[in-house]
Amino acid sequence: MTQEAGTQKTLAQMAEEVLRCGDGRAKAALSRKYAAMWREARKAGNPPPLGTANPPLQPARPARPELLDPRDVPRRKPGTPEGRIAILHAIAHIELNAVDLHWDIIARFTDVPFPMGFYDDWVQSADEEAKHFNLICDRLEAMDSHYGALAAHAGMWRAAEDTAEDIMGRLAVVPMVLEARGLDVTPGMIQIFKSAKDKETVAALEVIYAEEVHHVAYGSKWFHFLCGRENLDPVVAFHDLVRRYFPSGTKAPFNEEKRAEAGLPPDFYWPLSEEHPRR
Ligand SMILES: [Fe+2]
Ligand SMILES: [Fe+2]
Repeated sequence: MTQEAGTQKTLAQMAEEVLRCGDGRAKAALSRKYAAMWREARKAGNPPPLGTANPPLQPARPARPELLDPRDVPRRKPGTPEGRIAILHAIAHIELNAVDLHWDIIARFTDVPFPMGFYDDWVQSADEEAKHFNLICDRLEAMDSHYGALAAHAGMWRAAEDTAEDIMGRLAVVPMVLEARGLDVTPGMIQIFKSAKDKETVAALEVIYAEEVHHVAYGSKWFHFLCGRENLDPVVAFHDLVRRYFPSGTKAPFNEEKRAEAGLPPDFYWPLSEEHPRR
């Protein structure tokens, strides 16, 4: 049956719909709904066609939070309730961006042939990011705040725009640099909430920490897949792409254990961090 018959939405159409949804909670709900539909259809052996889409260069976003240059986002002390709300607000912003990033990789690169497992992995990741966004929004609301109450970083979609036409660049920068960075910094954040005896937030962050390892691993898996297909040395290709699209490089200290678990050995990231010694 053809897509034109209107009987079944394609995966790319679902992805585009999530990207064009401007409300945070509604975007998360749509992400979870389409992920569940995809999983069930795959299990039944009847997945929707991949199709093609016209994803926006920038996804739709709510009117709030106000987006500022990272240098202008006020910093607050983590030892105070306001500081902890600011940390959670920043995480919620990252998670909402991540929902869009994972649907964008599905919608934008339909011309690149991949095994079905590629779509399973990014649909799963998009579902988990929506869950993370909801978990953190719930914590903000329990603290009498909400996503949108504070300003957030404007630059977070930059990596997606820069790699909109380069699937290998996208995999190198988004899961293998940015999401891997999340693995480095999350234990410190968990510690902040442990010190504040906020068990609910600690539990939410531990869910996020465990699931993010898979997102980095999916990035590494599909990056290596493409290198294998193109007969490229993965380490050399990774370094070239990060230098091109993410010139600020990778920064120590690294969570070597979780990075290893995610299929990211030190020869990928150490040489890049040495090009940019910590200031
Ligand atoms: Fe996440
Ligand atoms: Fe993630």
